Amino acid sequence: MLKKRKLGKQGLEVSELGLGCMGMSQSYGTRNDPESIATVQRAVELGVTLFDTAEAYGVGHNEELLGRALKGKRDQVIIATKFGFRFDDGKIVGLDSRPQHIREVVEASSRRLQTDYIDLLYQHRVDKQVPIEDVVGAMADLVRQGKVRYLGLSEAGEETIRRAHKVHPISALQSEYSLWERNLEPRIIPLLRQLGIGLVPFAPLGRGFLSGTVQRAESFPEGDFRRNDPRLQGANFDANVRIASTVQEIAKRKAATPGQVALAWLLSRGEDIVPIPGTKRRKYLEENVAAADVVLAAADLAQLEAALPPTAGPRYSERQMAEIDR
Ligand SMILES: NC(=O)c1ccc[n+]([C@@H]2O[C@H](COP(=O)([O-])OP(=O)(O)OC[C@H]3O[C@@H](n4cnc5c(N)ncnc54)[C@H](OP(=O)(O)O)[C@@H]3O)[C@@H](O)[C@H]2O)c1
Repeated sequence: MLKKRKLGKQGLEVSELGLGCMGMSQSYGTRNDPESIATVQRAVELGVTLFDTAEAYGVGHNEELLGRALKGKRDQVIIATKFGFRFDDGKIVGLDSRPQHIREVVEASSRRLQTDYIDLLYQHRVDKQVPIEDVVGAMADLVRQGKVRYLGLSEAGEETIRRAHKVHPISALQSEYSLWERNLEPRIIPLLRQLGIGLVPFAPLGRGFLSGTVQRAESFPEGDFRRNDPRLQGANFDANVRIASTVQEIAKRKAATPGQVALAWLLSRGEDIVPIPGTKRRKYLEENVAAADVVLAAADLAQLEAALPPTAGPRYSERQMAEIDR
Protein backbone atom coordinates (compact mmCIF):
# COMPACT_ATOMS: atom_id res chain seq x y z
CA MET A 1 0.00 0.00 0.00
CA LEU A 2 1.30 3.42 -0.89
CA LYS A 3 2.12 5.73 2.00
CA LYS A 4 1.42 9.46 2.11
CA ARG A 5 3.89 12.30 1.77
CA LYS A 6 3.48 16.04 2.29
CA LEU A 7 4.35 18.55 -0.39
CA GLY A 8 5.18 21.90 1.16
CA LYS A 9 3.97 23.18 4.50
CA GLN A 10 0.47 24.26 3.47
CA GLY A 11 -1.30 20.93 4.03
CA LEU A 12 -1.00 19.24 0.63
CA GLU A 13 -0.74 15.48 1.16
CA VAL A 14 -0.37 12.94 -1.67
CA SER A 15 0.56 9.31 -2.25
CA GLU A 16 4.33 8.81 -2.22
CA LEU A 17 4.22 8.00 -5.96
CA GLY A 18 1.97 9.87 -8.38
CA LEU A 19 1.00 9.12 -11.96
CA GLY A 20 2.41 11.20 -14.82
CA CYS A 21 -0.23 11.38 -17.53
CA MET A 22 1.65 13.23 -20.30
CA GLY A 23 2.53 10.10 -22.29
CA MET A 24 -1.15 9.23 -22.62
CA SER A 25 -1.45 12.14 -25.05
CA GLN A 26 1.99 12.83 -26.53
CA SER A 27 5.73 12.25 -26.62
CA TYR A 28 5.99 8.45 -26.27
CA GLY A 29 4.29 6.56 -29.08
CA THR A 30 0.70 6.00 -30.10
CA ARG A 31 -2.25 7.08 -27.97
CA ASN A 32 -4.50 4.40 -26.52
CA ASP A 33 -7.34 6.22 -24.73
CA PRO A 34 -9.18 3.13 -23.39
CA GLU A 35 -5.99 1.68 -21.86
CA SER A 36 -4.99 5.13 -20.55
CA ILE A 37 -8.36 5.54 -18.83
CA ALA A 38 -8.09 2.04 -17.37
CA THR A 39 -4.60 2.94 -16.13
CA VAL A 40 -5.84 6.07 -14.33
CA GLN A 41 -8.69 4.10 -12.73
CA ARG A 42 -6.37 1.25 -11.70
CA ALA A 43 -4.06 3.85 -10.17
CA VAL A 44 -6.90 5.13 -7.98
CA GLU A 45 -7.59 1.52 -6.88
CA LEU A 46 -3.91 1.09 -5.98
CA GLY A 47 -3.92 4.17 -3.77
CA VAL A 48 -2.28 6.67 -6.14
CA THR A 49 -3.75 10.08 -5.37
CA LEU A 50 -1.55 12.51 -7.35
CA PHE A 51 -2.36 12.81 -11.06
CA ASP A 52 -0.15 15.04 -13.15
CA THR A 53 -1.32 16.74 -16.33
CA ALA A 54 -0.97 20.10 -18.15
CA GLU A 55 -2.82 22.25 -20.63
CA ALA A 56 0.06 21.58 -23.03
CA TYR A 57 -0.15 17.78 -23.00
CA GLY A 58 -1.84 16.96 -26.27
CA VAL A 59 -3.08 20.59 -26.17
CA GLY A 60 -6.08 19.84 -23.97
CA HIS A 61 -6.42 16.13 -24.84
CA ASN A 62 -4.70 15.00 -21.63
CA GLU A 63 -6.85 17.08 -19.30
CA GLU A 64 -10.01 15.92 -21.06
CA LEU A 65 -8.93 12.30 -20.81
CA LEU A 66 -8.11 12.65 -17.12
CA GLY A 67 -11.43 14.40 -16.49
CA ARG A 68 -13.27 11.47 -18.08
CA ALA A 69 -11.20 8.84 -16.28
CA LEU A 70 -11.72 10.45 -12.86
CA LYS A 71 -15.48 10.96 -13.20
CA GLY A 72 -17.07 10.04 -9.86
CA LYS A 73 -13.65 9.84 -8.17
CA ARG A 74 -12.84 13.55 -7.88
CA ASP A 75 -12.92 13.55 -4.08
CA GLN A 76 -10.35 10.75 -3.86
CA VAL A 77 -7.62 12.46 -5.88
CA ILE A 78 -5.28 15.44 -6.16
CA ILE A 79 -5.20 16.91 -9.66
CA ALA A 80 -2.11 18.85 -10.66
CA THR A 81 -2.09 20.84 -13.90
CA LYS A 82 0.02 23.57 -15.49
CA PHE A 83 -0.31 26.73 -17.57
CA GLY A 84 2.31 28.81 -19.32
CA PHE A 85 2.40 28.24 -23.07
CA ARG A 86 0.93 29.97 -26.11
CA PHE A 87 -0.38 27.76 -28.91
CA ASP A 88 -1.07 28.22 -32.58
CA ASP A 89 -2.64 25.55 -34.76
CA GLY A 90 -2.22 22.93 -32.02
CA LYS A 91 1.47 23.66 -31.48
CA ILE A 92 3.41 25.45 -28.74
CA VAL A 93 4.66 28.74 -30.19
CA GLY A 94 5.95 30.44 -27.05
CA LEU A 95 5.51 31.15 -23.37
CA ASP A 96 2.61 33.10 -21.88
CA SER A 97 2.21 33.69 -18.16
CA ARG A 98 0.36 37.01 -18.36
CA PRO A 99 -2.18 37.18 -15.50
CA GLN A 100 -5.21 37.41 -17.83
CA HIS A 101 -3.96 34.36 -19.75
CA ILE A 102 -3.48 32.41 -16.50
CA ARG A 103 -7.10 33.11 -15.50
CA GLU A 104 -8.38 31.97 -18.91
CA VAL A 105 -6.28 28.80 -18.91
CA VAL A 106 -7.44 27.83 -15.43
CA GLU A 107 -11.09 28.23 -16.50
CA ALA A 108 -10.50 26.10 -19.61
CA SER A 109 -8.44 23.47 -17.77
CA SER A 110 -11.09 23.15 -15.05
CA ARG A 111 -13.76 22.65 -17.71
CA ARG A 112 -11.75 19.93 -19.45
CA LEU A 113 -10.98 18.27 -16.11
CA GLN A 114 -14.68 18.46 -15.13
CA THR A 115 -13.81 20.06 -11.81
CA ASP A 116 -14.60 23.27 -9.89
CA TYR A 117 -11.07 23.51 -8.49
CA ILE A 118 -7.51 22.52 -9.31
CA ASP A 119 -5.59 21.10 -6.36
CA LEU A 120 -2.10 22.03 -7.49
CA LEU A 121 -1.49 24.65 -10.16
CA TYR A 122 2.00 24.97 -11.63
CA GLN A 123 3.55 27.55 -13.88
CA HIS A 124 4.96 25.17 -16.54
CA ARG A 125 7.95 27.32 -17.56
CA VAL A 126 9.22 30.62 -16.20
CA ASP A 127 8.22 33.45 -18.56
CA LYS A 128 10.92 36.12 -18.52
CA GLN A 129 8.46 38.64 -20.02
CA VAL A 130 6.24 38.61 -16.91
CA PRO A 131 7.69 39.31 -13.44
CA ILE A 132 7.24 36.23 -11.25
CA GLU A 133 5.55 38.47 -8.63
CA ASP A 134 2.74 39.18 -11.14
CA VAL A 135 2.46 35.51 -12.08
CA VAL A 136 2.24 34.27 -8.49
CA GLY A 137 0.00 37.22 -7.62
CA ALA A 138 -2.50 36.02 -10.23
CA MET A 139 -2.16 32.42 -9.02
CA ALA A 140 -2.71 33.56 -5.42
CA ASP A 141 -5.92 35.38 -6.47
CA LEU A 142 -7.18 32.06 -7.83
CA VAL A 143 -6.44 30.45 -4.45
CA ARG A 144 -8.44 33.18 -2.69
CA GLN A 145 -11.32 32.58 -5.13
CA GLY A 146 -11.31 28.85 -4.32
CA LYS A 147 -10.43 27.87 -7.90
CA VAL A 148 -6.97 26.56 -6.96
CA ARG A 149 -5.73 25.04 -3.69
CA TYR A 150 -1.92 24.94 -3.84
CA LEU A 151 0.77 26.51 -6.02
CA GLY A 152 3.79 25.09 -7.81
CA LEU A 153 6.54 25.99 -10.25
CA SER A 154 8.28 23.86 -12.85
CA GLU A 155 11.94 24.10 -13.88
CA ALA A 156 12.27 27.41 -12.01
CA GLY A 157 15.70 28.60 -10.88
CA GLU A 158 16.79 29.72 -7.43
CA GLU A 159 16.00 33.41 -7.72
CA THR A 160 12.55 32.77 -9.18
CA ILE A 161 11.74 30.28 -6.43
CA ARG A 162 12.75 32.75 -3.70
CA ARG A 163 10.81 35.64 -5.23
CA ALA A 164 7.71 33.51 -5.91
CA HIS A 165 7.64 32.10 -2.39
CA LYS A 166 7.59 35.62 -0.92
CA VAL A 167 4.34 36.43 -2.78
CA HIS A 168 2.50 33.24 -1.82
CA PRO A 169 3.84 29.97 -0.34
CA ILE A 170 4.90 27.53 -3.04
CA SER A 171 4.07 23.91 -2.19
CA ALA A 172 6.01 22.07 -4.89
CA LEU A 173 8.67 22.40 -7.53
CA GLN A 174 8.32 19.99 -10.44
CA SER A 175 11.61 19.55 -12.29
CA GLU A 176 13.54 16.75 -13.95
CA TYR A 177 15.36 14.60 -11.40
CA SER A 178 16.43 11.00 -11.62
CA LEU A 179 19.43 8.69 -11.41
CA TRP A 180 20.76 10.13 -14.66
CA GLU A 181 19.72 13.77 -14.15
CA ARG A 182 21.11 15.23 -10.94
CA ASN A 183 21.27 18.96 -11.77
CA LEU A 184 18.99 19.89 -8.81
CA GLU A 185 21.30 18.52 -6.14
CA PRO A 186 23.91 21.25 -5.59
CA ARG A 187 21.63 24.28 -5.15
CA ILE A 188 17.92 23.73 -5.85
CA ILE A 189 17.21 20.87 -3.42
CA PRO A 190 18.96 22.65 -0.49
CA LEU A 191 16.92 25.78 -1.28
CA LEU A 192 13.66 23.82 -1.40
CA ARG A 193 14.48 22.31 2.00
CA GLN A 194 15.32 25.71 3.44
CA LEU A 195 11.98 27.11 2.25
CA GLY A 196 9.92 23.97 3.01
CA ILE A 197 8.92 23.33 -0.61
CA GLY A 198 8.31 19.75 -1.83
CA LEU A 199 9.94 18.26 -4.92
CA VAL A 200 8.05 16.39 -7.64
CA PRO A 201 10.67 14.81 -9.90
CA PHE A 202 9.46 14.48 -13.48
CA ALA A 203 10.81 11.91 -15.91
CA PRO A 204 11.87 9.80 -12.88
CA LEU A 205 12.45 6.83 -15.19
CA GLY A 206 14.65 8.91 -17.47
CA ARG A 207 11.82 8.93 -20.03
CA GLY A 208 11.92 5.13 -19.89
CA PHE A 209 15.70 4.83 -20.37
CA LEU A 210 16.35 3.73 -16.78
CA SER A 211 13.87 0.87 -17.18
CA GLY A 212 16.33 -0.59 -19.70
CA THR A 213 13.82 -0.71 -22.54
CA VAL A 214 14.70 2.44 -24.45
CA GLN A 215 16.60 2.21 -27.72
CA ARG A 216 18.61 4.68 -29.81
CA ALA A 217 17.03 7.98 -30.84
CA GLU A 218 16.75 6.95 -34.50
CA SER A 219 14.63 3.89 -33.63
CA PHE A 220 11.73 6.20 -32.66
CA PRO A 221 9.38 7.71 -35.24
CA GLU A 222 9.15 11.41 -36.07
CA GLY A 223 7.16 13.20 -33.37
CA ASP A 224 8.38 10.94 -30.54
CA PHE A 225 10.28 13.01 -27.92
CA ARG A 226 13.01 10.40 -27.70
CA ARG A 227 13.99 10.82 -31.38
CA ASN A 228 15.40 14.25 -30.47
CA ASP A 229 16.65 13.46 -26.94
CA PRO A 230 20.40 14.25 -27.14
CA ARG A 231 21.11 11.60 -24.48
CA LEU A 232 19.90 8.86 -26.82
CA GLN A 233 21.90 9.96 -29.84
CA GLY A 234 25.13 8.46 -31.25
CA ALA A 235 28.07 8.36 -28.85
CA ASN A 236 25.90 9.70 -26.00
CA PHE A 237 23.69 6.62 -26.22
CA ASP A 238 26.74 4.31 -26.23
CA ALA A 239 28.04 6.00 -23.08
CA ASN A 240 24.69 6.09 -21.33
CA VAL A 241 24.01 2.39 -21.84
CA ARG A 242 26.48 1.89 -18.96
CA ILE A 243 24.06 3.75 -16.68
CA ALA A 244 21.16 1.49 -17.62
CA SER A 245 23.37 -1.61 -17.10
CA THR A 246 24.42 -0.46 -13.62
CA VAL A 247 20.79 -0.01 -12.62
CA GLN A 248 20.00 -3.42 -14.14
CA GLU A 249 22.74 -5.13 -12.10
CA ILE A 250 21.39 -3.76 -8.82
CA ALA A 251 17.83 -4.62 -9.82
CA LYS A 252 18.81 -8.24 -10.48
CA ARG A 253 20.35 -8.52 -7.02
CA LYS A 254 17.24 -7.01 -5.41
CA ALA A 255 14.83 -9.21 -7.42
CA ALA A 256 13.30 -5.95 -8.65
CA THR A 257 13.05 -4.32 -12.06
CA PRO A 258 15.42 -1.52 -13.13
CA GLY A 259 12.52 0.97 -13.18
CA GLN A 260 11.68 0.04 -9.59
CA VAL A 261 15.28 0.67 -8.53
CA ALA A 262 15.18 4.10 -10.21
CA LEU A 263 11.97 4.98 -8.32
CA ALA A 264 13.13 3.48 -5.00
CA TRP A 265 16.32 5.56 -5.29
CA LEU A 266 14.25 8.75 -5.66
CA LEU A 267 12.01 7.79 -2.73
CA SER A 268 15.14 7.23 -0.62
CA ARG A 269 16.32 10.82 -1.27
CA GLY A 270 13.85 12.36 1.20
CA GLU A 271 10.31 12.40 2.55
CA ASP A 272 9.71 15.65 0.67
CA ILE A 273 10.09 13.94 -2.73
CA VAL A 274 7.14 12.53 -4.72
CA PRO A 275 8.08 11.07 -8.12
CA ILE A 276 5.45 10.90 -10.86
CA PRO A 277 6.41 8.01 -13.19
CA GLY A 278 4.52 8.24 -16.45
CA THR A 279 2.77 5.41 -18.24
CA LYS A 280 -0.29 4.67 -20.30
CA ARG A 281 -0.34 0.94 -19.43
CA ARG A 282 -1.72 -0.83 -16.38
CA LYS A 283 1.16 -3.32 -16.49
CA TYR A 284 3.84 -0.62 -16.05
CA LEU A 285 1.70 1.25 -13.51
CA GLU A 286 1.46 -1.84 -11.29
CA GLU A 287 5.20 -2.41 -11.54
CA ASN A 288 5.92 1.24 -10.73
CA VAL A 289 3.59 1.35 -7.71
CA ALA A 290 5.30 -1.77 -6.34
CA ALA A 291 8.58 0.21 -6.32
CA ALA A 292 7.39 1.72 -3.03
CA ASP A 293 8.08 -1.69 -1.44
CA VAL A 294 11.64 -1.93 -2.78
CA VAL A 295 14.08 -0.88 -0.10
CA LEU A 296 17.59 0.03 -1.14
CA ALA A 297 20.16 -0.71 1.54
CA ALA A 298 23.03 1.67 2.23
CA ALA A 299 25.29 -0.71 0.27
CA ASP A 300 22.99 -0.57 -2.79
CA LEU A 301 22.90 3.22 -2.65
CA ALA A 302 26.67 3.38 -2.30
CA GLN A 303 27.11 1.02 -5.24
CA LEU A 304 24.81 3.12 -7.40
CA GLU A 305 26.61 6.30 -6.39
CA ALA A 306 30.03 4.83 -7.10
CA ALA A 307 29.20 3.03 -10.33
CA LEU A 308 27.04 5.53 -12.19
CA PRO A 309 29.04 7.29 -14.83
CA PRO A 310 28.15 10.92 -15.65
CA THR A 311 25.33 11.17 -18.18
CA ALA A 312 26.43 12.05 -21.69
CA GLY A 313 24.49 14.78 -23.45
CA PRO A 314 21.99 17.43 -22.36
CA ARG A 315 18.42 16.49 -21.44
CA TYR A 316 16.76 18.79 -23.96
CA SER A 317 17.38 20.23 -27.39
CA GLU A 318 18.96 23.69 -27.49
CA ARG A 319 15.57 25.37 -28.01
CA GLN A 320 13.99 23.59 -25.04
CA MET A 321 17.05 24.18 -22.86
CA ALA A 322 16.61 27.94 -23.45
CA GLU A 323 13.25 27.71 -21.65
CA ILE A 324 14.89 26.38 -18.48
CA ASP A 325 15.25 29.15 -15.87
CA ARG A 326 18.94 28.69 -14.89
N1 LIG B 1 7.05 19.77 -15.84
C1 LIG B 1 7.57 19.38 -16.97
O1 LIG B 1 8.15 20.15 -17.73
C2 LIG B 1 7.47 17.93 -17.35
C3 LIG B 1 8.24 17.40 -18.41
C4 LIG B 1 8.11 16.04 -18.69
C5 LIG B 1 7.23 15.26 -17.96
N2 LIG B 1 6.47 15.80 -16.96
C6 LIG B 1 5.53 15.00 -16.16
O2 LIG B 1 6.25 13.94 -15.55
C7 LIG B 1 5.63 12.70 -15.86
C8 LIG B 1 6.66 11.60 -15.89
O3 LIG B 1 7.67 11.86 -16.84
P1 LIG B 1 7.73 11.14 -18.26
O4 LIG B 1 6.47 10.40 -18.48
O5 LIG B 1 8.14 12.17 -19.24
O6 LIG B 1 8.98 10.16 -18.11
P2 LIG B 1 9.23 8.84 -17.24
O7 LIG B 1 8.19 8.69 -16.21
O8 LIG B 1 10.64 8.91 -16.82
O9 LIG B 1 9.12 7.70 -18.35
C9 LIG B 1 7.97 7.46 -19.09
C10 LIG B 1 8.31 6.42 -20.14
O10 LIG B 1 8.70 5.23 -19.50
C11 LIG B 1 7.89 4.14 -19.90
N3 LIG B 1 7.64 3.32 -18.69
C12 LIG B 1 6.90 3.66 -17.60
N4 LIG B 1 6.92 2.67 -16.71
C13 LIG B 1 7.69 1.69 -17.23
C14 LIG B 1 8.06 0.41 -16.78
N5 LIG B 1 7.68 -0.05 -15.58
N6 LIG B 1 8.82 -0.37 -17.60
C15 LIG B 1 9.24 0.10 -18.81
N7 LIG B 1 8.92 1.31 -19.28
C16 LIG B 1 8.14 2.09 -18.50
C17 LIG B 1 6.63 4.76 -20.43
O11 LIG B 1 6.08 3.89 -21.39
P3 LIG B 1 4.54 3.96 -21.95
O12 LIG B 1 4.34 5.39 -22.37
O13 LIG B 1 4.58 3.03 -23.07
O14 LIG B 1 3.65 3.58 -20.84
C18 LIG B 1 7.13 6.05 -21.03
O15 LIG B 1 7.64 5.84 -22.33
C19 LIG B 1 4.95 12.98 -17.21
O16 LIG B 1 3.96 12.00 -17.49
C20 LIG B 1 4.42 14.37 -16.99
O17 LIG B 1 3.21 14.31 -16.25
C21 LIG B 1 6.61 17.12 -16.65
